[in-house]
Amino acid sequence: MIENKRIYLKQLAVTDITDAYINWLNDPEVNRFLSVRGGAQDRQMVEKYVASYDGDDNRLLLGIFDKASRKHIGNITFSSINRRSGVGAIGIAIGDKSFWGKGYGSEALQAAVDLAFAVLKLRRVEAGINAENAASISLFNKAGFVEEGRLKEREKFGDRYVDFLWFGLLKDGKRQ
Ligand SMILES: CC(C)(COP(=O)(O)OP(=O)(O)OC[C@H]1O[C@@H](n2cnc3c(N)ncnc32)[C@H](O)[C@@H]1OP(=O)(O)O)[C@@H](O)C(=O)NCCC(=O)NCCS
Repeated sequence: MIENKRIYLKQLAVTDITDAYINWLNDPEVNRFLSVRGGAQDRQMVEKYVASYDGDDNRLLLGIFDKASRKHIGNITFSSINRRSGVGAIGIAIGDKSFWGKGYGSEALQAAVDLAFAVLKLRRVEAGINAENAASISLFNKAGFVEEGRLKEREKFGDRYVDFLWFGLLKDGKRQ
């Protein structure tokens, strides 16, 4: 478990799944930029997803919990963890919209980056972001990530193709 001022992160277990969590996965405002967009998630699918992280060395699923209410308000994922290169990809969602725009995403991302460098021993964390996701771009910029590349029309977004941005953060703070 790792914490910040108002949140803590802990590995998510099937027993953490609530109706509220399933509901925010199905909220089009929340999932607009997430891979679950479009398809309706039910408890069985969410249980299967959460359980799929068990014993997987290359991925990690962390729940973001509000310290004050102990409410599960979002998730952080690490995927494609490559131990040899010391690289992992990070994803974040604050699912409970009442927590948006109040700095909870920044606190959670900072805690996850600390965990990546100190506990997972990574030397680089990266993130792929839809170029139209202004909130996410601000969030990652604020955390010190640098935009390293733009993949033209990489994402199908509704009936359009939009650019995909690749952000990176090095442990030693080197600017790319
Ligand atoms: C992206 C997300 C995690 C941000 O979480 P949050 O708790 O609202 O973010 P914070 O309050 O910590 O804000 C971080 C920065 O982003 C900015 N920001 C937040 N929402 C914004 C928005 N809708 N538009 C533009 N900037 C925004 C904030 O102003 C802040 O920058 P500042 O301190 O310089 O003002 C949240 O909006 C979310 O979960 N969205 C849905 C899922 C998603 O898109 N995840 C990212 C996939 S890559």
